[in-house]
Amino acid sequence: MSDTDRAALVRAESLGVSFGRTEVFRDLDLEVAPGSQVALTGRSGSGKTTLLLALAGLLPPSTGRVSWPGLDSDPHRRRAQVGMVFQAPSLMPELTALENVMLPLRLRGMGRSRARAAGLGALVDVAVADAADALPPQLSGGQQQRVAIARALAGDHRLVLADEPTGALDRAHAHDVVIALRDAVAAAGGALVVATHDPEVAAVLQRQIVISDQGHLSLRAVR
Ligand SMILES: Nc1ncnc2c1ncn2[C@@H]1O[C@H](COP(=O)(O)OP(=O)(O)O)[C@@H](O)[C@H]1O
Ligand SMILES: [Mg+2]
Repeated sequence: MSDTDRAALVRAESLGVSFGRTEVFRDLDLEVAPGSQVALTGRSGSGKTTLLLALAGLLPPSTGRVSWPGLDSDPHRRRAQVGMVFQAPSLMPELTALENVMLPLRLRGMGRSRARAAGLGALVDVAVADAADALPPQLSGGQQQRVAIARALAGDHRLVLADEPTGALDRAHAHDVVIALRDAVAAAGGALVVATHDPEVAAVLQRQIVISDQGHLSLRAVR
């Protein structure tokens, strides 16, 4: 393994984010190693979404810094190495499930047959391949979320950041979907950070980090 393979995929150092005079958090230190699975929990409004956006490089820090030692140094190529999954599946309703998964690959210039193979592979990984040709409105909420996860996985991302990916699902489906997400990211050798308010979802991941009301991080459990 080269040093780049072992290097942290994302590292936050003394990170602080404020919106105007509202400080969401400050002085956060966090490192996500290759292969690790992190649950980020904390009350609604504690800053989970804000932290994920900062870790994705989509929100500039107010103080401190975020770096990606194990990812490409070119910001454009680095963006392609980071996959995001959001709470609402946000699929294009007029495209089939497979076409939705293929879309970002096609936009990145991948040829049609390669994108199709990668898209089908990702749908298989999260056990929703039987819905490949269905339109999103024909699918259940759980299936739609699996398709959105497949879309985030299809690009072979080194780091996947998921924000309440099971927020729109009932308990039983939430558990299944987060396990499918965890196992698919692990099989691809990537790292996963899931922001969730659901302790049962957090419990299936290796490492649990809590944002306290004071905006500090604490490590709750490691298994
Ligand atoms: N774009 C924004 N402008 C102003 N305040 C924001 C913005 N985004 C989030 N906040 C505030 O930052 C705090 C953390 O929000 P958020 O990261 O969404 O928390 P969580 O995801 O844990 O529910 C909240 O008080 C929220 O109101
Ligand atoms: Mg949030």
